Amino acid sequence: MKLKLIYAAMALTMGAASLKAQQVPAYLDQKQPIEVRVKDALSRMTLEEKVKLCSAQSKFSSHGVPRLGIPEIWMSDGPHGVREEILWDSWGNAEWTNDSCTAFPALTCLAATWNPKMSAIYGKAVGEEARYRRKDVLLGPGVNIYRTPLNGRNFEYMGEDPYLASIMVVPYVKGVQSNGVSACVKHYALNNQEVWRGNIDVELSDRALNEIYLPAFKAAIVDGGSWSIMGSYNKVRGEHACHNDLLLNKILKGEWKFDGCVITDWGGAHDTKEAVLNGLDIEMGSYTNGLSSGKKFAYDDYYLASAYLKGLKDGTYPMSTIEDKASRILRLIFRTAMNSDRPWGSFTNEEHYTVARTVAQEGIVLLKNEADKKKGAVLPLDASKYRSILVVGENATRRLTEGGGSSVLKVKKEVSPLAGLQAKFGDKIKYTMGYASGKPVYDREMKPGFDTDSLRKEAVKQAAEVDLIIFVGGLNKNNFQDCENADRKSLALPFGQNELINDMLKVNKNIVMVLLSGNAVEMPWIKSIPSILQAWYPGSESGNAIADVLTGEVNPSGKLPFSFPVKLTDNAAHSFGTISYPGDGVKEVYKEDILVGYRWHDTKKIPALFPFGHGLSYTQFKYGKAVADKKTISGSEELTITIPVKNVGKVKGKEVVQLYIGDEKCSVLRPVKELKSFQKIELAPGEEQTVSFKIGQDALKFFSETAHNWLAEPGAFKVYIGSSSTDIRSTVDFVLN
Ligand code: BGC
Repeated sequence: MKLKLIYAAMALTMGAASLKAQQVPAYLDQKQPIEVRVKDALSRMTLEEKVKLCSAQSKFSSHGVPRLGIPEIWMSDGPHGVREEILWDSWGNAEWTNDSCTAFPALTCLAATWNPKMSAIYGKAVGEEARYRRKDVLLGPGVNIYRTPLNGRNFEYMGEDPYLASIMVVPYVKGVQSNGVSACVKHYALNNQEVWRGNIDVELSDRALNEIYLPAFKAAIVDGGSWSIMGSYNKVRGEHACHNDLLLNKILKGEWKFDGCVITDWGGAHDTKEAVLNGLDIEMGSYTNGLSSGKKFAYDDYYLASAYLKGLKDGTYPMSTIEDKASRILRLIFRTAMNSDRPWGSFTNEEHYTVARTVAQEGIVLLKNEADKKKGAVLPLDASKYRSILVVGENATRRLTEGGGSSVLKVKKEVSPLAGLQAKFGDKIKYTMGYASGKPVYDREMKPGFDTDSLRKEAVKQAAEVDLIIFVGGLNKNNFQDCENADRKSLALPFGQNELINDMLKVNKNIVMVLLSGNAVEMPWIKSIPSILQAWYPGSESGNAIADVLTGEVNPSGKLPFSFPVKLTDNAAHSFGTISYPGDGVKEVYKEDILVGYRWHDTKKIPALFPFGHGLSYTQFKYGKAVADKKTISGSEELTITIPVKNVGKVKGKEVVQLYIGDEKCSVLRPVKELKSFQKIELAPGEEQTVSFKIGQDALKFFSETAHNWLAEPGAFKVYIGSSSTDIRSTVDFVLN
């Protein structure tokens, strides 16, 4: 009776067009605009039901409204594949047998493609896997800025440059969401280290916040249209980021007009009042430390559960807060779980493996290849030249999709580097481990189950007997390596790899180096090794993609999304003592301010081992002279800059033509130059293309602390176009009136 009355009242208020609402309530009617559905659903819900929406009911799901048939929201990590099913109320593996996924390359590898088309196919494919697995929210992508090479989670992010990360994150988000699965961009914001991540209070200037740390989040929300976002664990200016007035109310929901859901990181909520008032919508993982300990089935004790309901009833909190949160959550549900138009998804199919392989092939970076040196092997490898090839290194056989924390993947297929090389070189390949680490255990360092001395001796013995050594090392997903919850202890390669490399070099100089990691490492042996490949964590097709590049079937075209410093103190965050990194346990001050990554190396004239944007090819590209269509611009005028680029080598290849801009004279300190545009082009041998860029005033602006806004100061600017941030091939000057 009551329902009938409501339907009749609705039909009256909504006019003749919605007479249909008499049969189908508007919230269930897919044809109704989403806001009509939200309003209708809200009008039918009790206060208790609305509050329930705001918190978890299990480790990876939040409540629906069972009485009205409004489904729960199911979430999963993210960001490189869809995580295995987890138990209802604890972190154990649920031991399903249908949840082994495709592992896509880690996000550093995706960023290293410098190709937004790669982000688009990646996002679509990982979204299809999430959809097939009945997920509504995929917990990714991550876009925290690469501030220090010690950060254990850099591999889940898109590098040190806000422009590159912004361009790359948008197609990922759109691709995922084309499946009716929400992306959940994370960790908003300033979770740039794992040490003390739960409580460290980050202090930084408004300028650094706006110029460096927020743009990629803004792009994901404003340009990508992400339906949800995950708050980070740390504090920002005294408040936890998961309920932070500045980040959530003022910037995200105010300036950026975000209409979606803010979800906590797991265990990231700490206070009911702040959670209610400071922009949080869904609380996940509380009373679990974000990880493992805490009271069982404590969902009613969540900050946004019973305590919130009580506060609403006794007038402590305004009803507008729950109306807003419930609207946002319903919107998310209508966009995902209750979107009957969404496709069905697909899982571990050949198409997804092709995506994984293509992204890996384009992301792998050729760091060094000194073809003119007589000593040592150069790439690509000519199989006919070698009778025996020794593959050395644990990473040649180790599953690198395991470990690393929440981005851990249970995969159906992972082609190891050794298997990939065997597929190309057959019996010529021999393998010895050389070094060993322990099992990947999230919060502990495990001892290797091998005698490391004998491993090394055996490798050196075999190294002396072969034509060529392919060393496959780097970091792994162990605690204190590329792994959540802790940072690396140093920039050095772990597990005795440097000693092993040095010992092998004494008996055989023909070493090709393949590094798998999500972070920069120190390379004390660099002068002795002519060819080095940075292969990241390439996922299911790891070995195939690496072998494709080593043999030249694929010409490498990846470019570094972050700088590799020579030594740790060459990195900006590590140049100001412990208060700047990792902080004093309570607080941390980003003293380097806006000079992050190459902005620091350039401005302070500290050469990097390998600079931002660096990456070689098996061919060579000749850049002509850059030309601008005007000498001055004013107002909303755009500058068009063109530059011819020619493939002058012998093979087809892709090049990332990078455009940086420097403000020659400014009332505030500005970096020498900043990335403002790039294009990835493909050229056949002898082919030339004129690349054209358009530059508007936005590319010239800095965030002014005094005006609290973006400003471009009139005066001289310089455009730098090149093949990396330091390999500049042509410059053009112009003036902003
Ligand atoms: C991580 C998040 C992850 C969540 C759920 C947290 O520990 O920081 O990135 O999505 O766990 O697994």
